[in-house]
Amino acid sequence: MLEPFAGPASLLVLDGEEHVRQRRLQLPAFHGDALRAYAPVVAELAARELDAWPRGRPVRAHARMQALTLAVMLRVVLGSEAPALRAAIEEALALVRSSPRLVAMSVLGRDGRFRRAVARVDAELYALIERGGAEGSLIEVLRAAGPTDAELRDQLVTLLAAGHETTATALAWAFERLARDPALVARLRAGDDELLEATVKEVLRIRPVLSVAPREVAAPFALRDGRVIPPGAQVAACLYLTHRRAEAFPPDPLAFRPQRWLEGPKPPPYAWVPFGGGPRRCLGAAFAVMEMREVLRAAVARLDLAPAGARGERVRRRAVSLTPAAGGRVVAR
Ligand code: HEM
Repeated sequence: MLEPFAGPASLLVLDGEEHVRQRRLQLPAFHGDALRAYAPVVAELAARELDAWPRGRPVRAHARMQALTLAVMLRVVLGSEAPALRAAIEEALALVRSSPRLVAMSVLGRDGRFRRAVARVDAELYALIERGGAEGSLIEVLRAAGPTDAELRDQLVTLLAAGHETTATALAWAFERLARDPALVARLRAGDDELLEATVKEVLRIRPVLSVAPREVAAPFALRDGRVIPPGAQVAACLYLTHRRAEAFPPDPLAFRPQRWLEGPKPPPYAWVPFGGGPRRCLGAAFAVMEMREVLRAAVARLDLAPAGARGERVRRRAVSLTPAAGGRVVAR
C-alpha cells in the first residue's frame, strides 16, 4: 500500500534479509551522538514556531505541529529548509490525508494528481541528492553507506513521511494533555528534566499515535492458552490496549499521570510499546522522544497553556493514526 509514495527500497516496504540490511545501513544515523547534535536545531525551530503562535485565542496544535515537525525533518535530514521540496511534500501529503483510509493509497498510486505530486517531490529530492546535504545532515550519514540514488530517495521519503506526521500527532496530544494540567506545566518550567522525560512517555502511553503493529505470521505461533495461529494469518498487536492494562499500570491505568514513571515499580517489558517492537521497531523512536522533549521544553518555557474546551478531546481515528478530535485546541498566553 505504501509503495507508490515510499518506493520499493523503503524500510516500510521491504521484508526479510533486505529489510535487515537496509536497517543496518540506516541505524547509525539515529544513534546517541547524531541525536545530541540535532537537539539544538529542534529547539531553535520550536522556539520560532511557538513565538509565532497567537496569544489569547484557540490554536490547533496539531496543524502547527505538522508544520514544525516537517521543518524539523527537512532541516535534520537535508540540512536545509528546502522550501520547494517542502511545498511538493505538503501537496502529496494533502492528497494522502484526504483519503479516509490507508488502503486508498494503492488507488492513489494510479491517481494522476498524486503521481504528478510525487514526481515533483522526486525532482526536488534528486536535485538535493546531487548537490549533497550539509555536513552532519542525515543525507550525508546515509550516503556514507553507499546506497544508489534511487535507494537514497526511498530512504529519505520514508523518513520524511514516517517521521513527521506521527511526531506531530504525539505533540498535539501532549499540548491537549498539558493544557489541562497547569501544575505539571509549572514543574516542567522549573526545569525538572526527569519529569519532562516521564511526560513524554506518559503522553505516548495514554495516547499512542498508532493503534496497532500489524504482522503476517511466518511460522505456527502458540498463544499462552494453547491456541495456535497458523502461518499466513494477519495479526495485529494492539498497542493502545496494551498501554491500558491494569496490572502493568496500577492503580489508575487510564489516568494521565507522568509522575507514575518516577514512583513505584517499573512496568514489565513490552508494557510500553508506542514504537512497536522487534526487528521492525520504529527506527526513529529515540529521535521522536528527543524531538518531543525539545518542543515541550520550549513550550513550557514561554507559554501558559489553557484548554480551548472544558472536556478532554476524544480520540479520532485518521487513516492509521489516533488523533485529537478537535486538533488539540489550546489557548496560549
Ligand atoms: C512519536 C512519533 C512516532 C511514533 C509514535 C512512531 C511509531 C512507529 C511504529 C508503531 C512503527 C511500527 C513498529 C512495528 O511494526 O513494530 C514505526 C515504524 C517506523 N518508524 Fe516511527 N514513529 C514515530 C516517529 C518516527 C520518526 C521521527 C522517524 C524517522 C526519523 C520514524 C521512522 C520510522 C520507520 C523508518 C519505521 C519503519 C521501521 C521498519 O519497518 O523497519 N518514526 N514507527
